[in-house]
Amino acid sequence: MNKRVKDVVDAIVVAVQRVLDEKVVTESEYRTAVHYLMNVAEHREIALLCDVFFDSTVVATKARRSQASTPAIEGPYYRDDAPLVDDRLKVYDTDDHKPLLIQGTVNAVDGSVVENVTIDVWHSTPDGKYSGFHDDIPTDFYRGKLRVGADGGFRVRTTMPAPYQIPNQGPTGALLETMGGHSWRPAHVHFKVKAPGYETLTTQYYFEGGDWVTDDCCNGVESSLITPDVVEDGARVMNISFVMESAHAEAGANA
Ligand SMILES: [Fe+2]
Repeated sequence: MNKRVKDVVDAIVVAVQRVLDEKVVTESEYRTAVHYLMNVAEHREIALLCDVFFDSTVVATKARRSQASTPAIEGPYYRDDAPLVDDRLKVYDTDDHKPLLIQGTVNAVDGSVVENVTIDVWHSTPDGKYSGFHDDIPTDFYRGKLRVGADGGFRVRTTMPAPYQIPNQGPTGALLETMGGHSWRPAHVHFKVKAPGYETLTTQYYFEGGDWVTDDCCNGVESSLITPDVVEDGARVMNISFVMESAHAEAGANA
């Protein structure tokens, strides 16, 4: 027997039973819900549905026991095969070229420099799509791996991402609409910061004043992840100070 699995599943079952009781859910409603979940599986949207409602909670729970920078949901559009880049991500010539400069530092919790840091950066096109997933956009566009300098600094130029809708043509989108919600995410840039001996930091940063920043369908925006509206030499500037903590065993998972 796996005690961890038993503890968590027992708690889920009790929580669902309590809701069924408190909301006086009828047999008909229960059957509708079961058929809905079967439909979610048929549309291969189990991951999407779970991420919309629960991923941000798992991330927030991780953040509470961490001294590192605020983490955020990874989302479905990360690719481990992104190319190494120097100071600029590839973008389309037809891009609207609203320039974005992303720069900052990476340090350990005690302020010391972290060695051999790589930062994966990825974000949407100006029309809200991701390379390698939408419309045959080459996989080396709008994403790349940065090597952080010996002084802990990094800097890369790209263009502004845009808000986008998560897949909304299937049962997940239908449920959000039925609940009076929407499927929009605010414009953001994803980061995955890696270094030997340190916990990998997966996060996203947003733009002050951007659409949907205060109403993300995935509930993924923390105030500390919203960067102020700074423009220098015509480019929006995203200044970030990443803090990494030493690697440690995941609390709970093996308890
Ligand atoms: Fe995203």
